[in-house]
Amino acid sequence: MSEAVFPVPADVAARALVDDAKYQEMYNRSVTDPAGFWGEHGKRIDWIKPFTKVKNTSYDYHNVAIKWFEDGTLNVSANCVDRHVATRGDQAAIIWEGDDPSEHKVITYRELHVEVCKFANVLKEQGVKKGDRVTIYLPMIPEAAYAMLACARIGAVHSIVFAGFSPDSLAQRIEDCGSKIVLTADEGLRGGRKVPLKANVDRACEKAPVDSVVVVKRTGGDVKMVDGRDVWYHEATAKVPATCEPEEMNAEDPLFILYTSGSTGKPKGVLHTSGGYLVYASMTHQYVFDYQDGDIYWCTADVGWVTGHSYIVYGPLANGATTLMFEGVPTYPSASRCWDVVDKHKVNIFYTAPTAIRALMGAGTDFVTRTDRSSLRLLGSVGEPINPEAWTWYYNVVGEKRCPIVDTWWQTETGGILITPLPGATALKPGSATRPFFGVQPAIVDAEGNILDGATEGNLVITDSWPGQMRTVYGDHERFVQTYFATYKGYYFTGDGCRRDADGYYWITGRVDDVINVSGHRMGTAEVESALVSHPKVSEAAVVGYPHDLKGQGIYAYVTLMEGEEPTDALKKELVQHVRAEIGPIASPDLIQFAPGLPKTRSGKIMRRILRKIAEDSFDSLGDTSTLADPGVVDDLIDNRQNRA
Ligand code: WT7
Repeated sequence: MSEAVFPVPADVAARALVDDAKYQEMYNRSVTDPAGFWGEHGKRIDWIKPFTKVKNTSYDYHNVAIKWFEDGTLNVSANCVDRHVATRGDQAAIIWEGDDPSEHKVITYRELHVEVCKFANVLKEQGVKKGDRVTIYLPMIPEAAYAMLACARIGAVHSIVFAGFSPDSLAQRIEDCGSKIVLTADEGLRGGRKVPLKANVDRACEKAPVDSVVVVKRTGGDVKMVDGRDVWYHEATAKVPATCEPEEMNAEDPLFILYTSGSTGKPKGVLHTSGGYLVYASMTHQYVFDYQDGDIYWCTADVGWVTGHSYIVYGPLANGATTLMFEGVPTYPSASRCWDVVDKHKVNIFYTAPTAIRALMGAGTDFVTRTDRSSLRLLGSVGEPINPEAWTWYYNVVGEKRCPIVDTWWQTETGGILITPLPGATALKPGSATRPFFGVQPAIVDAEGNILDGATEGNLVITDSWPGQMRTVYGDHERFVQTYFATYKGYYFTGDGCRRDADGYYWITGRVDDVINVSGHRMGTAEVESALVSHPKVSEAAVVGYPHDLKGQGIYAYVTLMEGEEPTDALKKELVQHVRAEIGPIASPDLIQFAPGLPKTRSGKIMRRILRKIAEDSFDSLGDTSTLADPGVVDDLIDNRQNRA
């Protein structure tokens, strides 16, 4: 790891909201008097009925309960839209940039208000009521933001399913939250290629039937409409009024569910509520990106992930910001696309993932230097540890050594950024997420849960609650408690390993559970395994991560075939296709190794430590293999390893 230090540039410090002294002062107050601190900052959003209680949270294993601002009422969509109409009605709320560079659209706050109200009225007409779950399976088009805010407006709970997930994954998520409606588009468009969204919904609904499907016309592609179930969005919105009163919601009423993978079982429905989430998303957006009036802000995430929820839609819009929404991919039509978009819309703040940075770095520096980028002031990174090479390239080439990089560590569960530099306050070290945000109390524990002091390494926990924290796993509070509060009693366990240096800077070292991080997206190894074993020719499968130049981690699958099946390359391709169909392209195994046997203990437990080492091509240090039921399988695995240096 590089230990170079990049001090705060003078011009950045001069305009920043917070310098280092202010950070220290605010941070200290936030952890010594959380109720006082958040009571004050809770007022950054509009409340219908102001809260009188601020914090009521317990991490006690026997009684995990998290409530913030619990007696306040508000409406999230009114905060993101209505309250800006009078003061900045003609300002761009959303700049939408299409997949095709010739297509873009600017939506002002006044226009956003109309669109959200209309969509809300369409939902009502479809019978959606306060508390109902609404599944959203939309591409990156403005209607995705309208849909989210429309749900929030009427008190419905949205569950967005990333448009890259398969019909099976979609069906599973529709079923789990019991939604009766899906919002989708005819087709999505990414990198010039069409994604058959409506057809996927039709297939999902064979397994998980719903009462209605609202379809946005994006490409005009041919789709089948089911009579009595499916309606066109443009036809439905043409018939409804352009105003809709926002529903008065309690701070702790659910805002959304977002499914995320864990180390075991099916994806969990992470539940976020209204008041605390919005306070936290908007506050982190403002301070981490030093967002000030007039700035053009672009986060390249997809609304199907939490980054899109908090930092494309809710955080920026609550702040009255201009947020750019991009339908396409960074390499289409060329690897200059991001910088062309930056120049076209004069983007000041650019927030992306290390995997995209590495891909663009690989395409060559010319694609960057042929663009202007003088509007850029700040760069951000999220999703996985950023390797110092990628950091340095991002800093030197993209930002021309003038733009600080905020390396933001957080999770779907945390609702917003927890560990991050603040541009005017924090000297940067490439690869470190640096210091906690206000109100966040990280700690590093050993395997027994003892808190370790000073410069150290171990497992990352958070010792007390912050307003943006998830409240439960939808429909399964016990799973919430077991997943996050059982490993180290009294603390929230992140699942990440972490080092803290002598300056108190945090360095996230990656997941310590059976979760792998592929291109900044979380994948449970158990999910990929169960997809593999659902193939009729597969008897057993074990999946691990291995270092991958572009993706951060790649998916390495060991597969044992049914008796008599031939281990051919054609079958490998078939298995990759099978996993794509079961889960989605993001789960495609990068390497498959046919293994006549897997290393197991005498009690039948697969020894993943050994499989990880072989996948990493570092099998000199396999450790103790004497407890294996059949130590011989290891030699075969090594001989046939797929990731040779
Ligand atoms: C996991 C959470 C937060 C939105 C995107 C991913 C890893 C995230 C960083 C970072 C090192 C990071 C962690 C975390 N991660 N950001 N800046 N440095 N690791 O959300 O899918 O919930 O995944 O992503 O391992 O636990 P997610």
